[in-house]
Amino acid sequence: MLTEVTATRYVTPLREGGSLPGLVEASDLTSYVMKFTGAGQGRKTLVAEVICGQLARRLGFRVPELVALDLDPVIGLGEPDPEVQELLKASGGTNLGMRFLPRALGFDPLAYTVAPEEAGRVVWFDALINNVDRSWRNPNMLVHGGDLWLIDHGATMIWHHNWRGAPAWAARPYDATDHALAPFGPDVAGAAAELAPLVTEEVLAQAAADVPDVWLTDEPGFDGPDAVRRAYVEMLAERAATVHERVALPESGAADATRTTGWVTQGATR
Ligand SMILES: Nc1ncnc2c1ncn2[C@@H]1O[C@H](COP(=O)(O)OP(=O)(O)O)[C@@H](O)[C@H]1O
Ligand SMILES: [Mg+2]
Repeated sequence: MLTEVTATRYVTPLREGGSLPGLVEASDLTSYVMKFTGAGQGRKTLVAEVICGQLARRLGFRVPELVALDLDPVIGLGEPDPEVQELLKASGGTNLGMRFLPRALGFDPLAYTVAPEEAGRVVWFDALINNVDRSWRNPNMLVHGGDLWLIDHGATMIWHHNWRGAPAWAARPYDATDHALAPFGPDVAGAAAELAPLVTEEVLAQAAADVPDVWLTDEPGFDGPDAVRRAYVEMLAERAATVHERVALPESGAADATRTTGWVTQGATR
């Protein structure tokens, strides 16, 4: 179970991303980035955030703490933007909170160097969860306290939008040619040897158990939230053993040559 807190103040929308998360303050006097159940991408985005975020932390990655954030839309009444008003109105109840990292910078491949071991671990993890949202255009990583932090796991496990076709989809190669860490010579095989044995059914079940029931009810083809949780566990457990064999990286050197700096492409992130 995630810790449950209540949003007490809507501070401001965060417009860099595509889903219009909001910065809020909560009953534990902590600031969170709030991701809304009423956002266009739907509650599966939040399920993906929880399973992948909690799994990543258990594998040793830095991920800001996640909480279940209760929202009474009335706290956003003063917000002038009608788009934000609509989002808040559609999101009463349980939403996702990610602890806000103050003074964090967006990852910039020119300003921050990543060792091949760390790059390999991130690329391997993204292959495991089919993350399509960690490209150099849109890295979804922050640098905070001198360290690399992973955020935004909403666009992962794309196969959960069609469970019937999931096994076939998941067997496809993972294209990492555009990955933000591809230029750092990621040691994917080394990462697989280190991390795959840690992705046990038990660890996966713990991550899945953290998803609030309300986001897993009434899933077509499943007999309740625990059955959906088991499906995630099975898919990820199966992928962990062999996914490194299906990671496509750019030929060495090619990625660097075509790279444009983060600050030149600013505004193209989402
Ligand atoms: N925990 C955090 N701490 C500080 N800034 C964050 C945090 N999470 C997100 N942000 C900022 O908000 C932006 C949008 O968040 P993100 O999770 O990527 O949402 P989206 O789904 O809209 O892309 C990020 O690019 C980053 O600049
Ligand atoms: Mg994002």
